[in-house]
Amino acid sequence: MIKTLFNQIKGLVTYDADREFYAKVFPDSLDRVDLMRFRKMTKADLPAVMNIEQSGYIFPWAEGLFHDCLKAAHYDCWVCEDSEEKMTAFCIVSTMVGEATVLNLCIAADERKQGLGRKFMQHVIEKARERKAESVFLEVRPSNPAAIALYDSMGFNEIGTRPGYYKTESGEKEDAIMMAYTLMP
Ligand SMILES: CC(C)(COP(=O)(O)OP(=O)(O)OC[C@H]1O[C@@H](n2cnc3c(N)ncnc32)[C@H](O)[C@@H]1OP(=O)(O)O)[C@@H](O)C(=O)NCCC(=O)NCCS
Repeated sequence: MIKTLFNQIKGLVTYDADREFYAKVFPDSLDRVDLMRFRKMTKADLPAVMNIEQSGYIFPWAEGLFHDCLKAAHYDCWVCEDSEEKMTAFCIVSTMVGEATVLNLCIAADERKQGLGRKFMQHVIEKARERKAESVFLEVRPSNPAAIALYDSMGFNEIGTRPGYYKTESGEKEDAIMMAYTLMP
């Protein structure tokens, strides 16, 4: 009963200072992912970002693309770090005229399946809301069931497909599933 109540309070915790307080006073109450934080990506992060990118995709982005994203005013480039400042994930989001588009979300291979993808998407949705976006869009390969299940479970809906959008290893093209999340006013 007390533990349930405590977990509910913990769920409301937003600020890093509060997390630090809970981590010190109730160390068993926060797991590893609870203690991870988001911050803006910088150029110095690119080697770690490229490691995660290359372990996440068969066709990873080139480093130059991340440089371009860092320069573009309407792009938000986020990284997530654990309590020892090891990078665990990153995400690139473009926001324009009321629409946020998730261009890349990648969790380090050894940090998956602990709830970090969900935590990162919650962060992205929160930031999109702050920027007064009305919707969050993204594209995903039909051959990526983990990502589709994550987005489905968060309330994203399929809104269409882009035929032959992605390259595949076999040389054939794969469609993109387009998904959208509507932000309540
Ligand atoms: C897809 C990805 C972002 C998921 O991140 P994650 O941190 O492992 O996901 P979470 O642990 O937060 O899981 C949240 C939900 O996603 C789904 N999910 C995650 N991994 C899954 C898997 N391997 N198989 C099926 N469903 C999965 C589940 O619904 C899960 O909820 P549950 O734990 O209650 O069952 C991660 O696997 C990744 O970075 N992959 C490589 C890059 C990539 O494909 N990015 C997305 C491009 S669109």
